[in-house]
Amino acid sequence: MVGWGMEPLVVVDHVNKHFGELHVLKDITTTIHRGEVVVIIGPSGSGKSTLCRAINRLETIDDGVITIDGVPLPAEGPALAKLRADVGMVFQSFNLFAHKTILENVTLGQLKVRRRTRAVANQRAMELLDRVGVADQAAKMPSQLSGASSSESPLPAL
Ligand SMILES: Nc1ncnc2c1ncn2[C@@H]1O[C@H](COP(=O)(O)OP(=O)(O)OP(=O)(O)O)[C@@H](O)[C@H]1O
Ligand SMILES: [Mg+2]
Repeated sequence: MVGWGMEPLVVVDHVNKHFGELHVLKDITTTIHRGEVVVIIGPSGSGKSTLCRAINRLETIDDGVITIDGVPLPAEGPALAKLRADVGMVFQSFNLFAHKTILENVTLGQLKVRRRTRAVANQRAMELLDRVGVADQAAKMPSQLSGASSSESPLPAL
């Protein structure tokens, strides 16, 4: 796409995925550039989540290639663990830890995966919560929030 100027961040190249007889991803080819925001739209069951999960390597693909920042998705091992540390996903059913506050939910990955200090993680979490207008909910438990949205996407890591 003209204007993004850099190498593509995510390249999906002729990707196919079946669940048994069901051909879910049919020769999908697309390119996403750094900073680009992409919305995947389609009927229920058309494979949107499967594509997101494939990009995050939560699903295997049958054939084709997915490249992130010039590197093909690793199949297994430490390289896959590193990729997962760098790619976030907001799941359709949002999967917050019910026994932790909103702030604790947003800092958990930073503390455990990024190994940030609690002070740094708290600061980053509050910035992000503020960015989406819910900083004042930080101390609440998930059960105290209003209804969730059902959006889902691979996201940049915290
Ligand atoms: N693990 C699985 N095993 C078997 N079939 C699956 C599996 N995951 C998804 N499917 C099937 O693959 C198809 C695509 O599912 P997917 O969840 O990607 O759809 P979607 O576009 O995200 O739908 P929605 O809009 O309802 O979220 C559906 O028919 C679904 O039943
Ligand atoms: Mg879905």
